[in-house]
Amino acid sequence: MPARKLEFLILNGPNLNRLGRRQPEVYGRTTLADIEAMCRAAHESETLGLRFFQSNHEGALVDAIHAAQDDGIDGIILNAGAYTHTSIALMDAIASVEIPTIELHLSNVHARESFRHVSYISKVCVGVICGFGAHGYVLAIDALRQKLESDG
Ligand code: DQA
Repeated sequence: MPARKLEFLILNGPNLNRLGRRQPEVYGRTTLADIEAMCRAAHESETLGLRFFQSNHEGALVDAIHAAQDDGIDGIILNAGAYTHTSIALMDAIASVEIPTIELHLSNVHARESFRHVSYISKVCVGVICGFGAHGYVLAIDALRQKLESDG
């Protein structure tokens, strides 16, 4: 029997729509559209579908996580931006759905200001990828796929 097609949601939070122009010395010059194209080129196939959503609003991100459950999404890659460090609502939203989620950051948050060392969402994520810039998204998709395949 052919493998069931997996669907991943790549969810980006506040200010990530400004990638490419936003503090390029920290986040690089790659735009979010470039990242989407990189991920699709590297991973999209007959056995893996990718959906992308970005919002600057905490509630819209919570809604997208809830909707992922109804839409049969198999895995989420979440760059929650600054909400990583503040949002109990996002932590609760991830905990409220049964979807393996990877926390992602372009920058190495642990090498930056101490307030970025705190994450409310790590606790409810299967793993964290940070510090690899735009390539982190490609790594995260691969890691999530392998995790789902090894967990059966
Ligand atoms: C970020 C790191 C966060 O601390 C910051 O608020 C962001 C981007 C990253 O991708 O490195 O907006 O999540």
